[in-house]
Amino acid sequence: MKKSKYIGRSSFLLVATIAISSAYAENSDGNIASLYLAKACAGCHGVDGRTPTTPYYPIIAGQNEGYLYNQMRDFKNGSRSNSMSSVMKGIMSAVSEQEIRFISVWLAKQ
Ligand code: HEC
Repeated sequence: MKKSKYIGRSSFLLVATIAISSAYAENSDGNIASLYLAKACAGCHGVDGRTPTTPYYPIIAGQNEGYLYNQMRDFKNGSRSNSMSSVMKGIMSAVSEQEIRFISVWLAKQ
């Protein structure tokens, strides 16, 4: 029940922001922070990546860049399939390989 409420809210944000996010081609910190917001990541992981909105969502800021990249890639291609990973699989379908790379670098520095 609780889970679907969060998925619903984030899906709405995602749909509302896909058009905006496609404009962020440049790899500056400010642009990646905006991309992170535009992709609705903050709705679950917090604006800073370290204040998740439920205790079941992970803190992702300050994590190793390579690890972050691999997890997001694996959610996207389906090779990570555990616990609540279906939530992330849906989100990552709207995030490109290049965007995953940018977000990993940015999150590792937060
Ligand atoms: C609807 C809520 C939700 C949204 C939106 C969301 N996430 Fe997640 N995220 C989760 C959950 C839940 C998990 C844990 C999945 C599991 O249990 O396997 C997770 C896991 C992750 C992980 C792996 C953490 C680890 O320690 O393995 C990363 C990285 C991540 N999310 C990044 C992002 C990014 C970047 C975005 C935006 C593009 C995003 N998430 C959007 C809910 C969300």
